Amino acid sequence: MSESFYARATESANHVRNLLPEELKNPHVGIVCGSGLGGLAGMLDQEELFELSYKSIPHFPHSTAVGHAGKFVFGLLGEKKTPVVVMVGRVHYFEGHSIEKVTFPMRVMKLLGIHTVIVTNAAGGLNSEFSVGDIMVLNDHINFPGLAGQHPLRGPNEEEFGTRFPRLSEAYDLSLRKQIHLSYKKLRLTSEKRKIHEGVYVFVSGPSFETRAECRFLRALGADVVGMSTVPEIVVARHCGIRVLAMSLVTNRAVLEPGPRGDSSIIEDMGEEGLKAISEAGAANHEEVLEAGAAAAKDLQGLSITFRCSNPGS
Ligand code: 6GU
Repeated sequence: MSESFYARATESANHVRNLLPEELKNPHVGIVCGSGLGGLAGMLDQEELFELSYKSIPHFPHSTAVGHAGKFVFGLLGEKKTPVVVMVGRVHYFEGHSIEKVTFPMRVMKLLGIHTVIVTNAAGGLNSEFSVGDIMVLNDHINFPGLAGQHPLRGPNEEEFGTRFPRLSEAYDLSLRKQIHLSYKKLRLTSEKRKIHEGVYVFVSGPSFETRAECRFLRALGADVVGMSTVPEIVVARHCGIRVLAMSLVTNRAVLEPGPRGDSSIIEDMGEEGLKAISEAGAANHEEVLEAGAAAAKDLQGLSITFRCSNPGS
């Protein structure tokens, strides 16, 4: 396909804009919902909603993952009725889409007019101080596939979006982070034992969860959580000048402890119970990821609402 992403994204955005009712035509903020967090769309003014399936939009990638419905929800958020576009479901690199395809919706949202994006995801906790259900506000990332060539901006630079060599040293907007921490205090989520942290997200391609050795490796690199999304979208958002706030919900603890090692007798002498306990300890599964997402969605909704209400720029 020789057509530029800019040309394709323009076509997609025009298609969407033509379908939107007047008051929803110019969203200011994009919200990307992670695994099990699609309920975030429920915080919009329910009188004024417009939904559009990804399947109906030209050039748009659609998802095959469980828990990812795949639609845009346009609506008005909070007291100020800020026009927003919510992505309920996103496509992942592990589904087989190219990394450019994964980030295409961000460019469409840019052309629809958003200046800020809130990206949420479900992630595995590598930092031993993080518990299941905690929230981590991203202050940095490690783009593991990106460092090795699977980078969404590889190829001819599209100047309409941004510069050839974008800086990512300040990718996560400090004032938005400050606002989210203040919102958290205001909501007193502390009393519900859901802690909020700042930290580093490492993007891996998936779809398998990490081995124990891989978890130790990623922790040693400086990552606090690990996940299979978000980073490509953020790189593309920053390239085209969108302000970014990103939050991970810690849905499970990645297993860092090595299994039994050394003399083979350690395993030979182990009873059935012991073997079972070791093989099941902390094993990640998709169901627990979705469960933790459902429980936390309400709190994340609350955070997002106060966040918008307290943002003087909107
Ligand atoms: Cl443990 N790993 C990865 N890669 N993604 C996750 C996860 C773990 N938990 C939720 N998402």
